Amino acid sequence: MAIQEGKVVIIGAGMVGSQTLSAVLREAVVNEIVLIDMNKEKAQGEVLDASHTTAFAYSSNVNIHTGDYSECKDAHIIVMSAGPSITKGNTMDRSLLLNKNIAVMHDVMTNITKYTKEAIIIVISNPLDALVYYGQHAFDYPRHKMIGTGTLLDTARLRKIIGETCGVDSKNVHGYVLGEHGESAFVTWSDVNIAGIPFEDLNTTFQTKLVKEEIYNEMRSVGFDILQLKGYTNVGVSAACARIIKCIVLNEKSVLPISNVPDGEYGLHDVALSLPCIVGSQGIERILEIPLTIAERACLERSTAKLKEENSKIEA
Ligand code: LAC
Repeated sequence: MAIQEGKVVIIGAGMVGSQTLSAVLREAVVNEIVLIDMNKEKAQGEVLDASHTTAFAYSSNVNIHTGDYSECKDAHIIVMSAGPSITKGNTMDRSLLLNKNIAVMHDVMTNITKYTKEAIIIVISNPLDALVYYGQHAFDYPRHKMIGTGTLLDTARLRKIIGETCGVDSKNVHGYVLGEHGESAFVTWSDVNIAGIPFEDLNTTFQTKLVKEEIYNEMRSVGFDILQLKGYTNVGVSAACARIIKCIVLNEKSVLPISNVPDGEYGLHDVALSLPCIVGSQGIERILEIPLTIAERACLERSTAKLKEENSKIEA
């Protein structure tokens, strides 16, 4: 069956899935959103609640409804947000969710692939990179269509920290967090700049006291801080997912640091992690092998090794 451009299926109506529904609606670029959850009443309630937003936005033409996996057969994009999240009181060690959410991913991918291998899948659930790797590898899913929000969220956090300190819109802070969406994520400091002003010159330019180590630690720990304050995280990662969806539906060809399985880029195979990707209507068009310093290369290798070690624990 032909793909219906702009049809999005969201699997999981929990805190992340329901927030993703409203984040995607706000982008006003899709024409159909289907919400799937084992708890059909919850899904129906979220759909009904979200449908009333169309009176305030010009997305009144969007068709929002619940459904089952058969809705995947002509889906352009499928969001995987099912399964438990890290909750308050736990560490931010997303790998604690590995066995449980691999089982959820197996169930979700088994159902999706009954209907399609054409849709672009965006994984949000954690441990993010392990789930992206498992979904692509175990189901031989097209590599360029198996995506994870990955360090797009971490990059947004980095840019917000630097932008806020310098008094500049975080959209004008450039540079990436790459690798694992987790403990071994790393910053491409050699890339970080504001309007072309390199990181090393920011303190002089903006009379600030930016310290790499402090920024890095804040970027990595802010997810945990949110967890302790509200019990979960959902708004930031849902906005990251909506950003990817907008990029796909509008065929933007923007460069986004998102998780996928490289096909030899940076010499990498058999692992999913976040690298700068050109994203368009068919998913990932190209992974950009941006220049990395020796130190950044070492960080990439460390992140790769950690993720491959986690993948080795996947009980198929
Ligand atoms: C976070 C979750 C989405 O970092 O992993 O907020």
